[in-house]
Amino acid sequence: PPPSAAINLHDIEVLAEKVLTGTAWAYYRSTADDEATYFENSNAFKRFWFRPRVMNKVSQISTATTLFGLPSSLPIFISPAALYRLGHPDGEMNAVRAAGQEGVIQGISNNASCSTEECMSVKLPGQGLVFQLYLNKDRKASGTLVKKIEAQGFKAIMLTVDAAVPGKRELDQKAKGEDLKDGPSTFGKSGSSGMGVAHAISGYQDPDILWDDLPWLRRITKLPIIIKGIQCVEDAEKAFDEYGVKAIILSNHGGRELDYSPAPMTVLYELYQQRPDLLRKHEVYIDGGVRRGTDVLKALCLGARGVGLGRPFLYANGVWGEDGCRRVIQIMREEIETGMRLLGVTSLDQLRPELLSYMDKRLG
Ligand code: FNR
Repeated sequence: PPPSAAINLHDIEVLAEKVLTGTAWAYYRSTADDEATYFENSNAFKRFWFRPRVMNKVSQISTATTLFGLPSSLPIFISPAALYRLGHPDGEMNAVRAAGQEGVIQGISNNASCSTEECMSVKLPGQGLVFQLYLNKDRKASGTLVKKIEAQGFKAIMLTVDAAVPGKRELDQKAKGEDLKDGPSTFGKSGSSGMGVAHAISGYQDPDILWDDLPWLRRITKLPIIIKGIQCVEDAEKAFDEYGVKAIILSNHGGRELDYSPAPMTVLYELYQQRPDLLRKHEVYIDGGVRRGTDVLKALCLGARGVGLGRPFLYANGVWGEDGCRRVIQIMREEIETGMRLLGVTSLDQLRPELLSYMDKRLG
């Protein structure tokens, strides 16, 4: 079916499971242990209900904003994810093209299957790309990489800190990454393919990523640094209050790392309750389990600046390539716009806690 046949992100996931190779599906879909976090990521949104306001002038609305200091047509971004080429030969380039056409920001994974040169070569003038960094055990190699991507024109660095080691992803481990052996060499050296794709590509990553790596990173680059993978209020406070970080992404890697890590929406709610000042002063993003426009609006009501989506883009890329990635953004655009009109707001800055209740407790 054409991309337009998918009317929501669930439809795309169903198609992807049919179309992707066994290895690709297992790698993309896999999550840690018993998948409690994976399901909770989406379920957490279901505990928040709207308190819509009616009889407002909502024919004209705007979804425009800035994310990571870059203009965006929507309050969503493409979360960095590895190995788009497992799903489609053009890999990450499809998502770059789609993001350019639709005016959204994309994070390019340190473990992308397309080179940063390839990604840069298909972006539109003025289109913002952010580079996602894992720290290499060899910090000199990380330093060289940071200099390279800065010179290439990446606009910010997302430093991922929730993956000290790969989580126990059993679907991926069972699939063993068998078909990777014949795949293009860009997938990286294997050596441990019997443990699945995640283990095969992550050997260089340092389990010892330290808070004190932040001053070092700041010294070697002028790019803004975003910490991705904060999972509790204390670490959010540490990032902002002690380390002067400007932006964080509350994330548990889409449930792929520590099972029973809380849903980002839950951590955001705790931050809202305990340190609303941080939400006002700094940029806080979330990702994980976002599948509906209403999920996005709920996070913004609590004070998030924007939300990321990972798997929907991998799935859509595997089914249709660039057009699929665009379809994901279009579906989200329609759902966000409809939701805003029905909530009674015309711009994102009108989204506020009073428009939400948590279970039976009204907020704001
Ligand atoms: C990821 N994610 C990820 N994050 C990161 O910082 N660097 C990476 O290389 C990857 N790779 C990756 C591969 C795959 C297959 C998935 C599904 C995810 C995590 C990603 O950025 C994001 O946090 C989650 O995907 C968000 O959850 P959803 O939207 O997939 O539910």
